Amino acid sequence: MESREFAKSLEKQVADFCKNLDAKLPAYSFIPLSTDEMRVKVMQSRLFNEIRAGEIFGGWLKSTPELDVKKTLANATHEEYQHAVFLEEALRGKGATPYQYQALPAQMAMFNAFEGLTETVERIAAFPMAGEGVADYLIAKSLNADTVPSWVTAPYQKIHEDEEEHGNYPFEILVKYATTVEKQEKAARAVAMSLVLRRAYFENLDRWVFEDKSY
Ligand SMILES: [Fe+2]
Ligand SMILES: [Fe+2]
Repeated sequence: MESREFAKSLEKQVADFCKNLDAKLPAYSFIPLSTDEMRVKVMQSRLFNEIRAGEIFGGWLKSTPELDVKKTLANATHEEYQHAVFLEEALRGKGATPYQYQALPAQMAMFNAFEGLTETVERIAAFPMAGEGVADYLIAKSLNADTVPSWVTAPYQKIHEDEEEHGNYPFEILVKYATTVEKQEKAARAVAMSLVLRRAYFENLDRWVFEDKSY
């Protein structure tokens, strides 16, 4: 398949996943939450994600031969720690201890799975495209929801602006590098893996937030 057509097909797969979430929005989106205690839990979980995202992008640098992708990953690494600072400040403002948090099983699995990917196209498809694509879809929704208070939307407004700023870099990287059948097959499987683990993470988080069960 022509690589632009291929990249579009992956984007559609992610967009379909997002649309399916609309029927029952996860706690992750903050939208169904009714107390600050619940919102603190979700924000702590998402702060962990910022830290892990930075670790993973940074960890991929040496094994990324494409210089343009390497530079993009380096910027993304820095950006994730700026996001962490926004969330830390918001949590402290609510009297919470930002890092008093134990990662949920599927959340650990999801990031460990990203970390284990070895090729540029599968990494970019799994994480910046599918993972961050779903995250930013739900951020955009939460910014317009009346059930989400301003102490939550304030840091996410800034995070959302960052995500908008880099435009669609995962798409462009796939157009440029997912040029063989073998690479496309790997990237497609990585997206499917990412979405399966994302769903499991959302379920774990719902369970912890709504039923107070870690696993
Ligand atoms: Fe990001
Ligand atoms: Fe981030």
